[in-house]
Amino acid sequence: MGYFGSDHEETFETNIFPIQGRPEEEVLARLDAFSERDVGEISGHSIVYGTQLMNHMDAARIAKVANMKFVKKNMLYKELMAGTERMTLEVKRMIQEMLGFPDGVRIRLTSGGSESLYCAINAAYQWARQEKPKMRKPEIVAPYTIHAAFSKWCHYTGIRLKRVALGKDFRADVSAMQAAVTRDTFMIVGSAPCWPYGLYDDLPAIAAVAEKRNLWMHVDACLGGFLAPFTEKAGQKLPPWGFGISGVRSISADLHKYGFSCKPLSSIAYRNKDWEQYHEYAPADWPDGPYTTEAICGSTTAGPIASAWAVMQFLGEAGYVDLARRCIEVKQRYTDGINAIDGCRCWHSDLTPMVYEVPRGMDMFAVMGGLFERQAYCLPGFQPPVIKVIIDPVTDEVVDRYIEALQEVIPEVRAGKITIESIRPYI
Ligand SMILES: Cc1ncc(COP(=O)(O)O)c(C=O)c1O
Repeated sequence: MGYFGSDHEETFETNIFPIQGRPEEEVLARLDAFSERDVGEISGHSIVYGTQLMNHMDAARIAKVANMKFVKKNMLYKELMAGTERMTLEVKRMIQEMLGFPDGVRIRLTSGGSESLYCAINAAYQWARQEKPKMRKPEIVAPYTIHAAFSKWCHYTGIRLKRVALGKDFRADVSAMQAAVTRDTFMIVGSAPCWPYGLYDDLPAIAAVAEKRNLWMHVDACLGGFLAPFTEKAGQKLPPWGFGISGVRSISADLHKYGFSCKPLSSIAYRNKDWEQYHEYAPADWPDGPYTTEAICGSTTAGPIASAWAVMQFLGEAGYVDLARRCIEVKQRYTDGINAIDGCRCWHSDLTPMVYEVPRGMDMFAVMGGLFERQAYCLPGFQPPVIKVIIDPVTDEVVDRYIEALQEVIPEVRAGKITIESIRPYI
């Protein structure tokens, strides 16, 4: 199943698992053939290509090499890997320094933003089971924009997720969230920024509700966590989001987004050991004794951690600030280019992604189909219909190609030459 909900059922006329193994060159060539069918590198944004667009700084190459060096190492057996363990501790320490977290913060590495959010919900729930005896049907209060991973974990566990309608500015309506809190609420959350519109919620106001009602407050900084500090250092002010806000107990921030590591890697930080204790669960009710893992997943590879270590060391603060500055320039270039096209309008976004409306009455999917045909990739937003562009530190050429494609597509959709049919091959 794809992001757009597509489900391509392949039928196989013959068996494909070979009786005898094939030669290495043939195997690798066939893998290359799979890869060549994917979208091209330069036009794709990090949503598709992870770190590959940073080629100008060689960071992507270093991340890949580091990943390969450690990919076979199993993080389950840390006791046997003093070097890997030290490297992991150094990554956690660098995360603390990069994100400006105070001493005492406890960091866990996970397989991605979703797992970090699952960990946050689970820790909050374990805390509430002990500390909120009046809770009957556990529920979380969240703005409508909170990431879909919240819905997933709540579906798996039977926790109720109350998504509260947004304010007129498309940010959390904190008064409405406060009104939605009941004695069954154990957690309240906000985004920094949210995936649908790139906007920060008013996190200090949400934290005030958390403190007043004794709720676990989580900040989802999966998307912006590793971009925000460097964007600020590059001179752009952002709304507050960190542990500087009292009442925040946990924060998720993805390394495989603007930390520029290889996938899959994210982090969840707890303000202190007192909150981290609810993360921990090491079952011993089976024949093999305690089963202790970093987060929810079991055995995992050290490859992405090595890639994070390598990129952090390679870029240093100056490198991350350069990339953040480039993101600011790229966003401005997109905004200027898109706003100059008749009927298109960019929204304000605090950080990333960048969101724009196509001309009133025009079918957004027809526009996207036309863009995809021109190798200009982007994502749909549904409520309201908007097109989303992920801001990466790409070259001017990438931005200009996208703008040129949009300039061509809009009049053609208007003239009926490009229709919704154009998106069909991609969904
Ligand atoms: C704000 C936010 N939270 C969580 C996630 C989920 O992250 P992942 O795709 O790594 O599971 C994303 C992904 O884009 C996100 O933007």
